[in-house]
Amino acid sequence: MKKLIVITHPNLEESKVNNSWINELKKYPDDFIIHSLYDNYPNLDFNITDEQNLLSAHDEIIFQFPFHWFSTPFALKKYIDEVLAYGWAFGPSGDKIKGKKIHFAVSTGGKKESYDATSAISVSDLLNDFKLSFQYCGCIVDKLHVFYGAMFNPSEQSIQENTLAYINTFK
Ligand SMILES: Cc1cc2nc3c(=O)[nH]c(=O)nc-3n(C[C@H](O)[C@H](O)[C@H](O)COP(=O)(O)O)c2cc1C
Repeated sequence: MKKLIVITHPNLEESKVNNSWINELKKYPDDFIIHSLYDNYPNLDFNITDEQNLLSAHDEIIFQFPFHWFSTPFALKKYIDEVLAYGWAFGPSGDKIKGKKIHFAVSTGGKKESYDATSAISVSDLLNDFKLSFQYCGCIVDKLHVFYGAMFNPSEQSIQENTLAYINTFK
């Protein structure tokens, strides 16, 4: 079954990393369905039923986004608040995403060292509330792929290598 990639990037025209990932994903139409929230909903006025049907139709979902203030862009928080609804994702009869595998692909402006430093918190740790939300709905939170250091003028080669690693991680 194809894997669903839910992309939340408010400024894809300017993106290097997420666009590189998207361009590579497009080479594998039998493996991935690309779903960009900002392209489909410029005003973030989500069609909840459509979004729920899309999640229902896939067993593995990858949430791809740039790190904003050590978290997801707010649009993804809005999506989760609205789409993972009571009685659908949790609560009575709320079992519609139970058992699905959830992965994350995240680009950061900051370097790996700043996230690995003993006093800092890892990207994985910083995603704990999102992981917990999906676990609460019965999902299995699985892989995390990261590109670090997007704000430090990364080479085309480093982006390309990371892009191939992305595909190998999720294919
Ligand atoms: C509003 C905003 C907040 C950001 N906050 C962070 C942050 O907390 N940590 C970080 O490492 N990078 C942060 N960044 C940098 C982005 O994560 C980075 O530009 C992005 O991952 C690059 O990916 P792209 O080339 O696909 O746009 C922030 C960028 C913006 C616009």
